[in-house]
Amino acid sequence: MDRIIVVTGSASGIGEACANLIEKKGDRVIRVDRDGGDVVCDLSNKEGRDEMAAKVKEIAPGYVDGIITYAGLGVSEPVTLAVNFFGLVAAVEGVKPLLEKSKAPRVVTSASRSSLYAHDPIMVDLCLQGREEEALEIAATLAKIEHEDPLIYASSKVAAVRWTRRMAILPEWGGMGILMNCVHPGIVETPLTKDVLADDSPIKQWVYDTHPQVIPHQQHTVQPHETAGISVWLASEENTILVGQSIFADLGSEAILRGDNIW
Ligand code: NAI
Repeated sequence: MDRIIVVTGSASGIGEACANLIEKKGDRVIRVDRDGGDVVCDLSNKEGRDEMAAKVKEIAPGYVDGIITYAGLGVSEPVTLAVNFFGLVAAVEGVKPLLEKSKAPRVVTSASRSSLYAHDPIMVDLCLQGREEEALEIAATLAKIEHEDPLIYASSKVAAVRWTRRMAILPEWGGMGILMNCVHPGIVETPLTKDVLADDSPIKQWVYDTHPQVIPHQQHTVQPHETAGISVWLASEENTILVGQSIFADLGSEAILRGDNIW
């Protein structure tokens, strides 16, 4: 048991696959989820987030070596912004004092290939300014309107990756040796996507069409353990140089859509 990694969203899907892989490698996991684990808490609100930081501190032996954040939701409701962005930030900041005690601290946040969908820039700015109440008010308004694009979800992911890139290079994060990166999964078969990928789903084809892959979805439906591999590596000591990167683990979806002229 060398390293200790906190994994949020560890009761299901990609988070669970990360936790299982870390344990298989012989390291220790502190599992955080509202649905069970070492720390059971609700990351959608301040009380739950404070509880998470306090309980992780209680369980950990004075330090943790990393955190991987996969607690998240996909519904077009304000709670998605509360968990996917504000819960993520609070979880990472909550364990920072413990990361500072590690010899090789790592932070892996989760965004999504869907961060390339249309988003609401004002809501994203409010997120980045930490103005949760106002951001959630906009989300509540958007939740009442029909959109082709999942605006709340995409905005939560844009905010997550932008926050990660901002923090990653600051003296108090990267400068202290806390290497921080963000993973953008494509479409992964988990409970979160169960309904949209069901055969009778009215949006299954739209989801596939808007997430093109080099190997079509019908031939390769990505499984949680495939996304876990890159996330767990980023949280390991083997990653000594990647910082502030936005890694699309999506079977080429981002490359197909954005091409080669984004630099
Ligand atoms: P999942 O539904 O299988 O797992 C999410 C976990 O987060 C669950 O165990 C759930 O209990 C936990 N969670 C939700 N709300 C919580 C809260 N308020 N407090 C504490 N825990 C909470 O979902 P999946 O697919 O593993 O997704 C994980 C993350 O990856 C999400 O942020 C999702 O947006 C992102 N992602 C998933 C993709 C996919 O295709 N499955 C694609 C791109 C990103």
